Amino acid sequence: MNMKAIQFHKNSSEDGSATDIELPLPKASGHDILVKIEAIAMNPVDYKVRPAEGDPPKTLGFDAAGTVVEVGDKVTLFQKGDQVYHAGDVTRPGTNAEFQLVDERIVAKRPTSLDSSTSAALPLTSLTAWESLFDRLGINPDTPEENSGKSLLIIGGAGGVGSIAIQLAKLAGLTVVATASRNESADWCRNLGANHIINHHEAMPPQLKNLGLETVDYIANFNDVDRVWEAMADMIAPQGSLVLITGHQNQLDLGGTLKLKSARICWEFMFTRSMYQTDDMIEQHHILTRVAKLVDDGKLIATANDRLSPINAGNILEGHRRLESGSTIGKLVLSGWK
Ligand SMILES: NC(=O)c1ccc[n+]([C@@H]2O[C@H](COP(=O)([O-])OP(=O)(O)OC[C@H]3O[C@@H](n4cnc5c(N)ncnc54)[C@H](OP(=O)(O)O)[C@@H]3O)[C@@H](O)[C@H]2O)c1
Repeated sequence: MNMKAIQFHKNSSEDGSATDIELPLPKASGHDILVKIEAIAMNPVDYKVRPAEGDPPKTLGFDAAGTVVEVGDKVTLFQKGDQVYHAGDVTRPGTNAEFQLVDERIVAKRPTSLDSSTSAALPLTSLTAWESLFDRLGINPDTPEENSGKSLLIIGGAGGVGSIAIQLAKLAGLTVVATASRNESADWCRNLGANHIINHHEAMPPQLKNLGLETVDYIANFNDVDRVWEAMADMIAPQGSLVLITGHQNQLDLGGTLKLKSARICWEFMFTRSMYQTDDMIEQHHILTRVAKLVDDGKLIATANDRLSPINAGNILEGHRRLESGSTIGKLVLSGWK
């Protein structure tokens, strides 16, 4: 039996760079489950890992919501019919296909209060935001009273990752300063709970001072590292911590003010656990399960903000173009097959 899939042939979002094809239906074994994909969401990683010149064609796509249709012999967490969501594994074929194999340890049952397309917007950004704040910066999500009085600057507040991070940080009791450069993105951040907004296209340290904050205890940079490296060194508190999730073009100066302040710098890469099959890979199952409960309890607002249908090459290319603009707010989701 065959399935529909979309494959990229080159590193471009121009029409014709991806095509609708048919591929053989994969079979689940070991810890894999076979998921019938109902909806997907777009992330910048989709356009960052398109095939380079000379590479074989690629089935991309990371965020998805769907239904389990087959389980491997070692699967214990799921059974056929479970409605799930996941952010996948960058080393394996992706969610731009009607069916996808995924390791059960990075999947969870999706929120019962949301439809599949709204759920699909959550996994990748929730995992990145959760791991950034709680695994890398070491903030305890369960002690909001102890965390109150601590401050976090989120650079790129209205993006996919920032939109979830603002909410998780508020639930954890922190004071949140989010960056946004337009009225609509600033309003979006405020609606998600940000206490203050500053503009990342203007000098940030004086804006922070105007809020009465000399420094912040934590910085989560979810966008541009190079341009704001020195500003971050100015804004971080002595013994504060920074997390970075994007690449950088310049050599970063790890000394200077950052050294004098004994600042801690850590990286977050959402695919580390699946890529290296770490012993704690199942943590992503636990995080997504907790996120689904927060949504169902009304504590976390879903961030789907733009929709396309059906899932086909034309709409996926349009999605890549919208993401490449760097100005999307919240998440873009695609749903349905025709
Ligand atoms: N390491 C990981 O595991 C991981 C995981 C997820 C994402 N990422 C990376 O993190 C980045 C953000 O991902 P995302 O999904 O949140 O992106 P996104 O949704 O595409 O971000 C769009 C937002 O970026 C903001 N923005 C544009 N220029 C900015 C700048 N110079 N400084 C700060 N914000 C700016 C815009 O806000 P305004 O309109 O207000 O300017 C816009 O709302 C991407 O590079 C992505 O590849 C890494």
